[in-house]
Amino acid sequence: MAAQKLSFYIGTFLNPKDDESSDYYKTGLLVTEATDAGARILDLLPLERGVKKYGPRMTGRNTTDFGDALILPGFFDMHFHWVQDDVSDMPKDSLLEWLEKYTFPAEMKFAKRSYARAKGRQFFKKLVAHGTIGGACYSSIHEHAVDEALKYARGDFVVGNVLMNMNSPASLTQTDAESIALTERLIERHGALHCFTPRFAITTTPAVMRAGSALADRAGCFKQTHLSETPQEIAFVLSIYRKLPGFERVRSYTEIYAKTGMLGKRSLMGHGIHLSPKELKILGQTKTSLIHCPTSNAPIKELGLGSGLFDFRKVERAGVRWALGSDIGGGPFLSMFDVMRSFVDQNKRKHVSGATYVKALYRATLAGAEILGLNRRTGNLNRGKDASFIVIPLNGLKLPDEPELLLKRMIESHRGNRAHYSKLITAVYLNGKRQRLNS
Ligand code: GUN
Ligand code: FE
Repeated sequence: MAAQKLSFYIGTFLNPKDDESSDYYKTGLLVTEATDAGARILDLLPLERGVKKYGPRMTGRNTTDFGDALILPGFFDMHFHWVQDDVSDMPKDSLLEWLEKYTFPAEMKFAKRSYARAKGRQFFKKLVAHGTIGGACYSSIHEHAVDEALKYARGDFVVGNVLMNMNSPASLTQTDAESIALTERLIERHGALHCFTPRFAITTTPAVMRAGSALADRAGCFKQTHLSETPQEIAFVLSIYRKLPGFERVRSYTEIYAKTGMLGKRSLMGHGIHLSPKELKILGQTKTSLIHCPTSNAPIKELGLGSGLFDFRKVERAGVRWALGSDIGGGPFLSMFDVMRSFVDQNKRKHVSGATYVKALYRATLAGAEILGLNRRTGNLNRGKDASFIVIPLNGLKLPDEPELLLKRMIESHRGNRAHYSKLITAVYLNGKRQRLNS
């Protein structure tokens, strides 16, 4: 039998477990073991014990000492639009105006394959440099843009082209038949890496949602869309659907998705801010997940769209699963640190208890992996999982005794310069391989 090939990493570790807990090693040792596919985690323990256990096998060559740096699992961003990177610094008004004015024109540019390719190469490099190694991604309507995204994505991502068949600019409108044929082809090419993605009920016909949902279910694909982001959007949705045959008596936005086969355990609904108890009950019963995007929903003066505050306590009481997303470009920054900060800040301001950094870390990592069904293999630093982690120098920050305080101090020390969250990570390991950043 070949000798076991081990690698050792020294640093300060936080290993998210759930909403209430993260394992914390002020000075810890992560031990990984090479596999055919990369490397998996063999052990995570205090350095002192680690040296006793593995000392004779630790050498200058197989050991990396990150000093006082913090080491976390990579992030899962469960809702982002890779084709909206350039929209993220545009001025914001309300959702529907912002879509018309800035977002649709930006997405139109992806009609050119060479543009999509150049952007794809650039964007996914940037994403991994932000420590994001998995999640669910929206592309433009164009078939080749999905291919380019999946070519350059590094990590565990599902990607789907937005489907738009009505109430959209002419150059972003497909016929129902085109959308369905496109979905068939993308599923054939990419299998379950393709995510069925009606943009939202305003732009996608019920016929496309029904036919595509059935195709996605048969292939084991995830489905994603936007749900109840703003009151104007909800009013518009209901006014459209109540005129459509079969939907005359529809009572809620969620019901429209229920009637078109869009809900289920592989369904990711972006936002879900303005939902009635009845809608939450439907989401819980169908095991549908909500993806909360706090920086996108934040007030306009905080560079969000001012859509409102997601009521995570109500969502949890209804038994609905949820995770965090950046919603880039509705959200202004790609960093999940900024997303975590915004979640904590906005709830604190409204005196909502329970919105801790420990919770935010879980919802930005393991919760996403759980929703994608990948948590046996990735999502945190448990033994047996992929050796995927990110390194953040703490620059002499005094280590507090509680994980909550450590995250708070580290994250809040940068709140005055949100763009700076993009620069905190100095190393990203994906399944044992150190990634080239910014090259
Ligand atoms: N609803 C429909 N499309 C979009 C989008 O691109 N961004 C956001 N935030 N909401 C949407
Ligand atoms: Fe979105």
